[in-house]
Amino acid sequence: MEKVALTGIKPTGSFHLGNYLSAVRSAIALSSKNNYTCYYFIANYHALTAEKNPALLEEQTYHILASWLAFMHDKKNVFIYLQSDISEIFELYWILTCYTHKGLMDRAHSYKDALSKDIKNINIGLYTYPVLMAADILCFDTDYVPVGKDQKQHLEIARDIATTFNTTYKKDIFKIPEPIINESTSLIIGIDGQKMSKSKNNIIPLFVEENKLRKIINKIVTDSKAIEDSKDPNTCNIFSIYKYFASSTEINDLKEKYLSGGMPWSYAKDLLFEVLINNFKKERESYFKLIADKAYLNTVLKTNKEIVKQKASLVLKRVKENLNNLF
Ligand code: TRP
Repeated sequence: MEKVALTGIKPTGSFHLGNYLSAVRSAIALSSKNNYTCYYFIANYHALTAEKNPALLEEQTYHILASWLAFMHDKKNVFIYLQSDISEIFELYWILTCYTHKGLMDRAHSYKDALSKDIKNINIGLYTYPVLMAADILCFDTDYVPVGKDQKQHLEIARDIATTFNTTYKKDIFKIPEPIINESTSLIIGIDGQKMSKSKNNIIPLFVEENKLRKIINKIVTDSKAIEDSKDPNTCNIFSIYKYFASSTEINDLKEKYLSGGMPWSYAKDLLFEVLINNFKKERESYFKLIADKAYLNTVLKTNKEIVKQKASLVLKRVKENLNNLF
């Protein structure tokens, strides 16, 4: 039986290690399984709720597209596409809004966060963001959605909406999606020691030039222990990232250096830089080739648009058949 995996990334900033560890790593793993079809996309209409600058939005859309492709442009079972290319999603979005109780949106964390900051910044797109996300997912009979922990509630909302629709018509019209959340990487620390997030300006981007990456790593906040002091790897921001990418021998070696004293912070930073550069050598090379070739990127979008629309239109048709014959 075919299984469907689906996830999206908003083009609102640079692709970073948090994206990779929370969702993309699982997305890649699912794409290597037998009988999986993967729909991985750039959520540019979700981005529009917050980003209105046309040039920036365009640049970041290509950036996320090339990032996705750098990991899996050679896979036949993976379709990377632009959300706005698939009009079926937006038709389904409207249908779903009519089965979504307002209270469900009022309870969404992201909306409540925005509400607590500044009510003037809340547009209806932001308010109904979870319904569009439900449409993204339900439009493809998705089985699994690899996401970061911060998206857990959005997945619950999608399941809720699907269930309401199914109950209304007493039929299993929508498949109920399962989130894939990697609990062990649920808190990825940024360069300032807080949760890594675009909005906090503390990300470690993956696809930037080496010297820029080095500069960012050099900015990781550490405590003020002197070189000769023994240091605690478990509370160190450098180590907390290093451990996701280094081998167990490398991790143990560095741990010893921390504990025994005599290690300058620059040593740990250099090791983190090296491990990232080595781990993502192939992907980084691909990324820089891809981002320089807009014609190729446009061809990918065009080809995948046709394929992905076919799948979405089948689901949409099945949904509309329940409304009445005129829809
Ligand atoms: N809201 C997600 C995020 O900010 C992005 C997203 C949009 C998404 N639609 C999706 C993720 C559908 C998974 C499935 O990370």
